[in-house]
Amino acid sequence: MPSPLTATAAWPGVITHYRDRVQITQSVAPVTLLEGNTPLIPAPALARALGQGKAEFELFLKFEASNPTGSFKDRGMTAAITQAVADGAKAVICASTGNTAASAAAYAARAGLQCVVLVPDGKIAAGKLAGALSYGAQVIAINGNFDDGLRMVREAAERAPIALVNSINPARLQGQKTAAFEVVDALGAAPDWLALPVGNAGNITAYWLGFTEYFNDGITSTRPRVLGAQAAGSAPIVHGRVIEKPETIATAIRIGNPARWNEALLALDESDGEITAVSDAEILAAYRQVARLEGVFCEPSSAAGLAGMAKGVREGWLDLDGQRVVAVLTGHGLKDPDTAIKGAAEPVTIEPRIDALLGLLSLS
Ligand code: F0G
Repeated sequence: MPSPLTATAAWPGVITHYRDRVQITQSVAPVTLLEGNTPLIPAPALARALGQGKAEFELFLKFEASNPTGSFKDRGMTAAITQAVADGAKAVICASTGNTAASAAAYAARAGLQCVVLVPDGKIAAGKLAGALSYGAQVIAINGNFDDGLRMVREAAERAPIALVNSINPARLQGQKTAAFEVVDALGAAPDWLALPVGNAGNITAYWLGFTEYFNDGITSTRPRVLGAQAAGSAPIVHGRVIEKPETIATAIRIGNPARWNEALLALDESDGEITAVSDAEILAAYRQVARLEGVFCEPSSAAGLAGMAKGVREGWLDLDGQRVVAVLTGHGLKDPDTAIKGAAEPVTIEPRIDALLGLLSLS
């Protein structure tokens, strides 16, 4: 009899596919939802728009929303939860702006672990809360921000028998670096630039780890330059200081004191990269643009990297002409239906009659 996984076994998830590279204790079967292997979508119309007549370049979107819980966090969570099981943990905890919470909850459910998540009260997108609750996590809303939550869960993991699965856990980076491998495996080489949003700075650290590993092993002869983007109201790395009260519509990256700050600086330095702050208006413009020009719906935070590209080209400090660029779209647009609907024209309601419909059509 075929195994129940036969239909999907072609892609086994990131731990098994990259088993020689993902450095976690591989003494137990991976806890996997077959994450990874996400599409690298060519985006020529968006590239033309972002080039603003000043640059012609090749653009690909690494669509991390295609992961099982709708964000890139699943790559790191398969590794962190597998490691937790190998370590004999019975419960896991994290602070989160939403996506980590949903991902931790899903993988913990699959492993039969208890899961506790701390989220900033009222500052988490509906789809993320829905996910975390559905997968059965204990969701605790705090009257504070992500940074407060991270401080609390760090201490909780020191004082109680519960494993921390935020990206300060090294297993998370081991899983997340596989996205860099996939980019190189798909393109046959490293891109010239990698653009991505930066919040707690785990992902920029993980990509750099992955590109560097392939580079050191001679699989690529170059590494990309990294373009990081933070939201203007939450841009500690850009400003070089902790932001006590971070604010932005891009709630996923509403973070004022990133845990992987130093590693992000190293990635930016070693890659000869750039980090920039983009306003909420710029983020929302890029968020709508990628959906309308390419049919790709990401959450607002994910569009920060695109907004950073637009800003750099407009201001003249980012020369993308002739370059090959990969922009990481970290989470799905469906995670945040409220922002999507609020910014759009309201649907028209009509009577169920054909003349009412035909009267509304303006086809060219
Ligand atoms: N994009 C999305 C959609 C995110 O959810 C996050 C982080 C980031 C970008 C930034 O990645 O933190 O590695 O620099 N979300 C975390 C969470 C903080 O709790 O879900 P980072």
